[in-house]
Amino acid sequence: MSGRIPKEFISELLMRVDIVDVINSHVPLKKSGANYVARCPFHLEKTPSFSVSRKKQFFHCFGCGASGNVIGFLMDFNRLDFVEAVEDLALFAGLPVPKEEGQGYRANLPKLNELQALLASVAEYYIEQLRVQQAGKQAVAYLKKRGINSQYATEYKLGYAPFEWQELTEKFNQDLLLMAGVLGVNDDDNRVYGRFRHRVMFPIRSKRGNVIGFGGRVLDDSMPKYLNSPETVLFHKSQEVYGLYELLARNAKPLRILVVEGYMDVIALAQFGVGYAVAALGTALTEQHINLLFRFSAEIVLCFDGDKAGRMAAWKAMDAVFPCLKDDRQVKVMLLPLEHDPDSIIRVEGVNAFVLRVEQATVLSDYFFAQLSEHLDLATVEGCSQLTLKAEPYLQKMPDGLLKDMMFQRLGQLANFKVARKKLTVKNLNKKKRISCSRIGQAFS
Ligand code: GTP
Ligand code: MN
Repeated sequence: MSGRIPKEFISELLMRVDIVDVINSHVPLKKSGANYVARCPFHLEKTPSFSVSRKKQFFHCFGCGASGNVIGFLMDFNRLDFVEAVEDLALFAGLPVPKEEGQGYRANLPKLNELQALLASVAEYYIEQLRVQQAGKQAVAYLKKRGINSQYATEYKLGYAPFEWQELTEKFNQDLLLMAGVLGVNDDDNRVYGRFRHRVMFPIRSKRGNVIGFGGRVLDDSMPKYLNSPETVLFHKSQEVYGLYELLARNAKPLRILVVEGYMDVIALAQFGVGYAVAALGTALTEQHINLLFRFSAEIVLCFDGDKAGRMAAWKAMDAVFPCLKDDRQVKVMLLPLEHDPDSIIRVEGVNAFVLRVEQATVLSDYFFAQLSEHLDLATVEGCSQLTLKAEPYLQKMPDGLLKDMMFQRLGQLANFKVARKKLTVKNLNKKKRISCSRIGQAFS
C-alpha cells in the first residue's frame, strides 16, 4: 500500500489527544491521586492495578505488566495494527490522516467513508431484494435448499442481486458504485455494467464490521459459480478473510481459527456450532491472511476440501505459512475425505465428528515432512538429498526461534544429515568447499 504516515503527524496527534480521554472512552477511569485507575482490560482482576498517567501520557498495569502509550493501548485493546490505531486516533482527534506519497487511499479519508456508507447501503439493498423480487424468492428458496436458516442468513447479511442492475444507479451515486466494484466498465466499449446479476450475495466485512466487498453465487450450475468484487481502495483480497467479523463478534479470543475454502462452508459450520471458521476470498492464502488470524488466536487449522484442488491448495499454503511460524504459534492441516467440503461433511457426520477432525488435525511438521517424503525413498542417499533440497527453502523462511531449530533437527533426523541452519555466505562456501550440508557421524545403517 502506498503512502506512509509522516512521523510529524504522529507526533502532532500524540500532542493533541490526551491518553486519559481515549482510554476513558473504552475503559471508565477513576481519579486516584495524580493518576487514573481502572480494573485492567488486559487481564482479569478484582481490584484495579491499571493506572494511566496524564503527565506521562502512558498506561501501566502493575498486575500484568501491560504498558504503553495511547497508540499501543488502541492496538492492544482493539487489536489493530499500527496504521489502523493511528487512523482511529486521528478520527478521535478529528484530524485527517496525511500520507507522504499522497496517492494512498488513506490520503482521502472522506471519500473512504462515503464508499463505506455506500457498500453498507448496497448490502441492505440486496437484502431487501430477497423479499421484493420474484427472483429474490428463488434466492430464498436456494438458500433454504442449501440448508441455510434465516437466523444465519441474517447474521451474514445474505442478499440477492437482481438481474436488472440499473436500479442501483437510480438509488446510488454511479461513480461510487464503480469505485466500490459493484459496477464495472467494459474494456471494449466503455459501457457500464452491473457486476452481480441474479446471484445470492455474500457481503464481505472487514474485521471491524464494514462491508468492503461482495461474493456472489449463481443459483444453478452455470459458470462462473462465484464472482467476487475486484480489488478496490477498500477491498484487498490478499489481506481480508470472509467471516472474521462474525467470528470475533461471537468470541474475541477463539482457542483456534479454522480456515476453510468456501463462503458456504463458513456459514454452514457456524450454523452447526463451529463458529470459529473463516474463508479466504477465492484466492490462495497469503502471509498477510495468516498473520491477521494469528492476532486473534495462537492456533490456526487449515482445512481443505478432499478433492485434488484442495490438496494442491493445502501444499500451496505452505508458502504463506512458513514465514509466519513464530514459536508461540501453531498451524495444523486438515484434509477432508474425497468428495467432501466442510459444509457437506458436517451435515453427513454431524458436529461432534467434525470437531474431532479439527482436534485431530495434523500438526504442520508432520504434514510437511510427510508430503515431501511421499515419493522419496529415505533409505537411499538420493532420497535423503532430495528431501533436504526440497525442505530447506521452506525452513529457511521461518523466523529464528526454537521451532525453526527443531524443524531443522527433524529434517536432519529424517535425512540422516546435519543440515546447516543458515545459508552459507559465498565466502564461507569457498572455505567449506561448497557444501551446505555436513554429514552427521554415522553412515546409513
Ligand atoms: P458451493 O458450496 O458450491 O456454493 O461452493 P463452496 O462454498 O463449497 O466453494 P468452492 O469450494 O467451490 O470454492 C471455494 C471458494 O472459491 C468459493 O467460496 C469462492 O470464493 C471461490 N470460487 C469458487 N468458484 C469460483 C469461481 O467460479 N470464480 C471465482 N472468482 N471464485 C470462485
Ligand atoms: Mn460447497
